Amino acid sequence: MLALRRLYRATFPEDKWENVIGRDALFFVASDDTGPIGFVVLQPADLTPNDFFLSAIGVLKRAKGRAVAVKLIRSAARWAVMNTERDAIVTYVLASNGPSLMSFMRSGWEIYWPTEWMAGVNVVYFRKKLR
Ligand SMILES: CC(C)(COP(=O)(O)OP(=O)(O)OC[C@H]1O[C@@H](n2cnc3c(N)ncnc32)[C@H](O)[C@@H]1OP(=O)(O)O)[C@@H](O)C(=O)NCCC(=O)NCCS
Repeated sequence: MLALRRLYRATFPEDKWENVIGRDALFFVASDDTGPIGFVVLQPADLTPNDFFLSAIGVLKRAKGRAVAVKLIRSAARWAVMNTERDAIVTYVLASNGPSLMSFMRSGWEIYWPTEWMAGVNVVYFRKKLR
């Protein structure tokens, strides 16, 4: 857990773990021969209970630009298809976060317009249907 908190702090220095990571959070971690280099978090979505919410994804500076984020997103979705009955994974990304927007587009997620907003207007909502 300490290693996860360290990864989180390195990629989200301004966000408090407690405000983002829920009690039922599932972590998927990417490593190379130097150790952990990235992570993605799935947790039950508050507004659509049969969906997962992807609440955080982070890749260490030294591992950026190697499609680690894309591999993490795809692996988490594959795991969810094989191991859960959930309908979809939803998330949102700040419209100003180019690398993150590209990661979800590259991973084949659809942009959608939720009936209830999880966040404000300066974000792009993404969804991956699982079945
Ligand atoms: C967002 C983040 C997870 C992406 O990780 P990554 O492993 O470097 O991403 P990838 O290597 O898969 O790159 C994704 C795409 O973004 C592109 N990209 C990289 N930097 C970019 C930039 N500044 N502007 C636009 N696109 C950029 C890459 O070229 C790649 O696109 P391509 O496949 O067409 O070449 C990582 O930058 C990070 O941890 N950022 C800090 C935390 C954060 O913002 N998380 C997301 C919150 S929603």
